[in-house]
Amino acid sequence: MAILARSAYMHFMFNDLTSPASYITTRRSCRPRDMIAPGPDEPQIRAMVSTALRTPDHGKLTPWRVVHVTSDQRARLSEKLQAAYLAEKPNAGRLELEAMDMFAHHAPELLVVLYSPKQSRKIPEWEQELSAGAFCMNILHAAHIEGFVGGWITGWPAYSESVRDFFGQSSERVAGYIYLGSPAKPLEERPRPHLGDILSSWNG
Ligand SMILES: Cc1cc2nc3c(=O)[nH]c(=O)nc-3n(C[C@H](O)[C@H](O)[C@H](O)COP(=O)(O)O)c2cc1C
Repeated sequence: MAILARSAYMHFMFNDLTSPASYITTRRSCRPRDMIAPGPDEPQIRAMVSTALRTPDHGKLTPWRVVHVTSDQRARLSEKLQAAYLAEKPNAGRLELEAMDMFAHHAPELLVVLYSPKQSRKIPEWEQELSAGAFCMNILHAAHIEGFVGGWITGWPAYSESVRDFFGQSSERVAGYIYLGSPAKPLEERPRPHLGDILSSWNG
């Protein structure tokens, strides 16, 4: 009965901030294209990124950083994205270029998270990559805790080196585009793995 009640509840309320437990068990991203105003203002964005500074980071290397693309920079981002796309794919069609334009204009706010690995004799790059993923996750958590929704996407703009150069150095990679705003429509549940497929006891 308790299980039934809980699963029904989870279908109706996401990012429930009543308690830490209710939040973490109802966490849900929003698709960037489904986000509308309001989005976080500058102090709220600073608060979110400050929260994410508590991400686990072996050796204190901070292999991550964030570039905020402000709303008045979105048209410029669209132009640059489309130019970079055309340079790489000269036969691109109108729809592909429109997709780049939409990518640049989704949601009220956009953070570009860069994976910024540091030279270390002690800490392998793999651990720095894990930390960068955790950093992105913590930005999402922080956005939800501020009462907004977040969405972490990648796609072509995350893998193009010329787009990476808009934001960072050749040693860096785009870990994700994190969009922030409010949901335009109710969030819907997404199927989750079965616990039994994920958790096992060691049979050593
Ligand atoms: C590294 C990474 C890249 C992602 N890129 C995309 C993407 O390009 N497009 C997309 O629809 N979802 C992408 N996702 C998935 C969404 O961020 C999100 O996790 C998913 O829609 C499920 O929502 P949830 O966070 O509520 O589980 C990506 C997730 C990760 C971890």
